[in-house]
Order: sequence, then C-alpha cells, then structure tokens
Amino acid sequence: MDEELNLHHVGNTPLHQVNSIDANGNTVFAKCEFMNPTGSHKDRTFLYMVTELEAAGEIKPGMTLVDCSTGNGGAALAWIGKRKGYNVKIFMPEGMTQERKDQIREFGAEIIETDKNLFLNGSVQAAKDYMLDKNPEDFYFLDQGSSLLNKAAWLQCGNEIVSQLEGKNIIPDYFVCSIGTGGTFSGIAEVLKARYPSLKTIGIEVDKSAPLYSKKNNLVFTHKPHNMMGLGAGVLSCNTNESVIDEIVTVDGEQS
Ligand SMILES: Cc1ncc(COP(=O)(O)O)c(C=O)c1O
Repeated sequence: MDEELNLHHVGNTPLHQVNSIDANGNTVFAKCEFMNPTGSHKDRTFLYMVTELEAAGEIKPGMTLVDCSTGNGGAALAWIGKRKGYNVKIFMPEGMTQERKDQIREFGAEIIETDKNLFLNGSVQAAKDYMLDKNPEDFYFLDQGSSLLNKAAWLQCGNEIVSQLEGKNIIPDYFVCSIGTGGTFSGIAEVLKARYPSLKTIGIEVDKSAPLYSKKNNLVFTHKPHNMMGLGAGVLSCNTNESVIDEIVTVDGEQS
C-alpha cells in the first residue's frame, strides 16, 4: 500500500474502454473501481458513510466502528478508520481470503470470524450481539447492509459516469453491475436512469444465492455456500432498489 494514498484519492476513477469484450460491435466501458486506495469500490461506500455520520454527530474519532464484510468493505473501513482516528472491528465469515484478512489487520483493525455456514447473516447477528452491552458513545455499528447511506454513497459515482460519457459523446444502452447489498448498483442506476430514460440495467447475482433472480422468476429462494465474496449474502438489502433493475442474470461462481 502506497503511504502517499489518502482519503481524497477515493473515487474519480477512470472509465476505461474494454476492447477485449466489445463483441458484436458493442462498445464496453468499465469503471475502474479497483483503482481506489484499498483496491475496491467499497472505499467510496465507507468514506461516504463515515463522513456523513460524522457530520450528523453520530460518530467522532476515538470511537470504535463495527461492520460486517467478506473482505473488501472491511479493508476499506479499516483503512479509512486508521486515517480518521477510529478503532475498527470487522465481523467476517470464516474462510474468506487471507490477503483481505492480512490487509484489514495491516490497517490496524480487528477481525472477528463467524460461522461460515451462516455466511454474512451470521456476521450481522454476531455484530448485533456484540453491540448489546456497548456504550453508544464509544461504539457504532455502521451496518452497510441496512443503512441507506450505502446506496447514497453511489450517486456520486453515477454522476461521474454521466460526465465521463458526456465527455465521449456517448449515450449508453445498458448498465451492468453485480449486486451484493445492491448499494453500488442502485445508487449508480438511479442516476443513470434519470439521465438516460431508455437505458436498461442488468444486475448480476451468483447462482447459488440469487434472491432477486428467484423473486423475478417465481422460484423458491435458497442460499448455498459459494465462492463469490461480496455477492449472495443470503438476504435482500434495503439498499437494493428493485425499481431500477430491468433484468437479473446469474453467474456460476467457479466460472466467474
Ligand atoms: C468484489 C465485489 N463486487 C461486488 C460487491 C457488491 O457490492 P454492493 O454490496 O454494493 O452490492 C462487493 C461487496 O463487497 C464486492 O466485494
């Protein structure tokens, strides 16, 4: 991790034309969220949440911030917490990647591993149990799955995409994005749909845990363990705005 990287390096990522997948004459652009300081889009989610909660007087440096994550969100919160002067505790299902665990610990945060069979639901329950006897002056559970600040964080990214496309004189036909909490997809899709009324949006779920796909196709939803960290938590989050999703496609985790 480059020590020069700081909070103002979050966001404003390039929109890159992906020539390798522009089959059938379509032009495909990718928003390079991996270029955020900790390597994922979740830097935006947590920087926005922490900044808004500070402005609302809900949290202040010195407190302990708690959240649940399969890795990327935990790394983002750990990094932001370190820079802003918070302690961070991440509740995480067992079996997540060593590199993300190392990254979270390197930023000074603590990881509490929870039952892998319960996946993120188990982490959320463990975090809630942990908070029960904690002084709210000292501890705050951000809860990216249930806080609508998560989705709100993504309006800015939607605006960035609009101005980047306008700079190229392009009107997009489709927006494709994976759905975990749905904050990323929904925040961006709300902005793009308002700007481009004919745009169609496609959400991606992992086949082993696809609550939206099941709902849209009248199938009984079942959650099975899978390898797609960040997707398929086993529940539908309030951050998923179903009114801006036109189609849901499932992917095979191993193949992906
Ligand atoms: C690599 C990756 N993709 C997609 C997602 C889903 O993002 P969201 O929770 O905003 O739907 C996550 C969530 O952690 C992730 O880590």
